[in-house]
Amino acid sequence: MIGAPVITIDGPSGSGKGTVSRLVARALGWHLLDSGALYRLTGLAGALAGLAPGDEEAHARAALAMDVRFGADAAGEPTVLLDGRDVTQAIRTEAAGERASQVASFKAVRHALLERQRRFAEPPGLVADGRDMGSVIFPSAPLKVFLTASVEERAARRFRQLKSAGINAILAAVTADIASRDARDSGRAVAPLVAAADAVTLDTTRLDAESAARQILARAAERGLDRPGSGFRPL
Ligand code: DC
Repeated sequence: MIGAPVITIDGPSGSGKGTVSRLVARALGWHLLDSGALYRLTGLAGALAGLAPGDEEAHARAALAMDVRFGADAAGEPTVLLDGRDVTQAIRTEAAGERASQVASFKAVRHALLERQRRFAEPPGLVADGRDMGSVIFPSAPLKVFLTASVEERAARRFRQLKSAGINAILAAVTADIASRDARDSGRAVAPLVAAADAVTLDTTRLDAESAARQILARAAERGLDRPGSGFRPL
């Protein structure tokens, strides 16, 4: 049972989903679900418990059992606690991303995380960021968005992010990594990355996050999702 309106924002890594989802959620005054973080947390919980990376059932049990708290620090930046431990940075490493992609291909893990994700749909509304938000988790969402961007642009964004975090990277390697993660996320048997049939596709190759968010908010307004009481604040 979904208790509030949901806007789903799906797309591949580097399409700008994270930033755009945050802007849309803030403008509407709605909750935000970063579903990728749940896969990253499952991978990390498995690693911390010493699980074999290929052990599907054990990872599904870990996904069900983990205590996850999303919050914000004093500066308003998002924080994540796993079983009481601050893992905000630990889930963002390349290794955590790799492990997340692996556990995300397990049917039992996806099933274990299904209800946990649906529980985020609370009043006044939810912006759900992921790969299968519109296709599987919230199929009746009144607005579904699929963000895309060229592999080259997404790799360039990731490369800039790594450099600004002081991490040495080679653009060609980052591009190859993004392409192989795309192939795994799109090619897996369970809930592959795919635009829902009724999703609005937005190409962000030449669009900044603010402009993409404005376009989504305009669609939300067309559907009456910004009416008074929804907490809407224009960007
Ligand atoms: O968006 P992200 O990089 O934090 O996601 C981490 C991994 O989890 C990525 O390989 C895709 C996967 N994922 C998924 O399969 N389904 C989702 N709804 C969200 C993320």
